[in-house]
Amino acid sequence: MGGDEGLVVRKIRHGTVIDHIPAGRALRVLRLLGATLGGGRRIAIVINAESRKLGRKDIVKIEGLEPRVEDLDRIALVAPTATVNIVRDYRVVVKRKVEPPAEVRGILRCANPTCITRKPGEPVTPRFRLVSRDPLEYQCVYCGSILGEREIVEQLGGPAPL
Ligand code: CTP
Ligand code: ZN
Repeated sequence: MGGDEGLVVRKIRHGTVIDHIPAGRALRVLRLLGATLGGGRRIAIVINAESRKLGRKDIVKIEGLEPRVEDLDRIALVAPTATVNIVRDYRVVVKRKVEPPAEVRGILRCANPTCITRKPGEPVTPRFRLVSRDPLEYQCVYCGSILGEREIVEQLGGPAPL
């Protein structure tokens, strides 16, 4: 039975519930989904809900949207613990844990200022390989620098909104 962890937020009829987001990162998840969301959609955000597994968690409910696989991969980078539930006719029809992609191209920036991917006028697309899931760590394919979860979250979601 899915509870709403003490705060009354209605069940949705059709759409997506992104659950088990690390506490405080809901707005970053929404920012990442920005272009996909479009305007006029009904969205519920719960920040710092109680969670048995995580202590605290955030939840995002988006009416009328079923995200694409690329979107889920990006969500995994800021919310590696998230579960994505697709809801149709009030029922959860798909429940999937997000999966940090084995390789990331072009979304992240290498932290090493002398890396070839940061040379001005050098059109080398940054590439990173997943080296750890928890905590999340990616390694630059070109210079070997490690990008940690905190830097990844900041690069993709901007500074902490809360
Ligand atoms: N949910 C919703 N609207 C629905 C169905 C589910 O908003 N029509 C929400 C629930 O409130 C919950 C999430 O979607 O936050 C997942 O629902 P469910 O699988 O029923 O809950 P749990 O079994 O608690 O999920 P998990 O095992 O992933 O924690
Ligand atoms: Zn590099």
